[in-house]
Amino acid sequence: MKRKFLCFMLTMSMVISISGCSANTASTANTETTTEVKEENKDSIESTNNTEDETSKENEDDSSEITEVASSNNEEVAQEVISLRDVVPNVLDSRIGCAVTQSELEDPKVWDIVTTHFNAVTFGNELKPDALVDYSCDTCPGTEEVDLNGETIVVPKLSFKRAESMLDKIYDWNQENPDRKIMVRGHVLVWHSQTPEWFFHEDYDKKNDYVDKDTMNKRLEWYIREVLTHFTGEDSKYKDMFYGWDVVNEAINDRDGGLRTDNENPNEKLSESRHGSNSSWYHIYQDNEFIINAFIYANKYAPDSLELYYNDYNECNTLKRNGIAELLTAIKEKEGEKGVGTRISAMGMQGHYGMDNPGFTEIEYAAKLYAEIVGSVQITELDISASDSYDRTEESKIQENEKLKKRYNIIYFTLKSLKNNSNVNIGGVTFWGTVDHYSWLQSKSNIGGGNKTGLPQMPLLFDENYEPKPCFFVFTEQ
Ligand code: GLA
Repeated sequence: MKRKFLCFMLTMSMVISISGCSANTASTANTETTTEVKEENKDSIESTNNTEDETSKENEDDSSEITEVASSNNEEVAQEVISLRDVVPNVLDSRIGCAVTQSELEDPKVWDIVTTHFNAVTFGNELKPDALVDYSCDTCPGTEEVDLNGETIVVPKLSFKRAESMLDKIYDWNQENPDRKIMVRGHVLVWHSQTPEWFFHEDYDKKNDYVDKDTMNKRLEWYIREVLTHFTGEDSKYKDMFYGWDVVNEAINDRDGGLRTDNENPNEKLSESRHGSNSSWYHIYQDNEFIINAFIYANKYAPDSLELYYNDYNECNTLKRNGIAELLTAIKEKEGEKGVGTRISAMGMQGHYGMDNPGFTEIEYAAKLYAEIVGSVQITELDISASDSYDRTEESKIQENEKLKKRYNIIYFTLKSLKNNSNVNIGGVTFWGTVDHYSWLQSKSNIGGGNKTGLPQMPLLFDENYEPKPCFFVFTEQ
């Protein structure tokens, strides 16, 4: 089923004016502007990247794939809105997803966008460790005894209610719409952030000492077993809904590409409940053992059909990219049987990109490198932070929309080129949100960053009226 509807937009002023075109219909305008716009995009891709001769040649050859949606200055243009999920998966041979939180999913207009445009979702927060202990971040919410490999261990009580309420809604949708099912990307098992500090301490009390590696390994195995079995085990209602899971998130630092340590930010105390930068995983292990073990345990408890990922940001920066590649290699080298070895299916390139960086070449280089090591990449948290000149005035919003469209065009072009020219397997593209006003880039945050200025940004495909922005059409124009 192809879902189409018309969107009437007051169009922004475009770089190219349409001479002699009344723009009564989008298709007329498209015909008249296509050639010039292609040239302009080709230039912007080439100038952004200082590409070598060979790459430039590839860009030229492929420029026919880049199209823009035509518009004219300040005129209302009827524009056909095609469902992303009816187009992008065919072009990239990948899933097309978005992140949603529980409250966003309860917004009927977001739900409409999700069910119209996406065939995959990532829960923004609800499968993170802090959510699974019901946000009891300062103190452990209670413990119980469980068996782990024949030994009785004490573990914190988990609560799956938030994730389940989201899954139930999607489950019902899938039952009623078997041809337009939505699958879920699990996010995330092991992360330095949004994991309560007490999880790392004796008796689950952060006033006590840190536990030793041996104890932490048991907690790690138990946690991964519980979460994966609950959501993907044979008896789970949700077992057919997940296609993959981030096993480890953001374990490489931004400084030199080494492991993220317990002192990335000296101003952040390690005793803080959920950490923005410092890693208590590293504090206990001092090496990558917890990462390797996490992949061994995930392999042990996940069904074979569930893909397992490493996920990180700034993944195109040279030093960090090399560090990530080294880590992926280490994970890959330990691959083996269930219960013994690791398994990794893809590298999650978060894709929290800036308006100018990274360019075509950097994204391409990183994706090829990762795909060579683990076989496949996904763009997992795509959004674009605002340019430096953006100040929220109407004029700068118009400019920003123009830039955003060009920027998304370059990124989509890069992904198509990776697939078509370099045979890179791109398993999925997921935007980190749907509408701008729910984006994490609306505000500053100590946990997970947010924007730097406190100025709400406009990084996504849909605006505050839940309408597709000009950049949306980059992904639906053929
Ligand atoms: C990181 C995490 C996500 C989310 C975003 C910002 O990239 O992986 O879970 O927290 O930051 O919202």
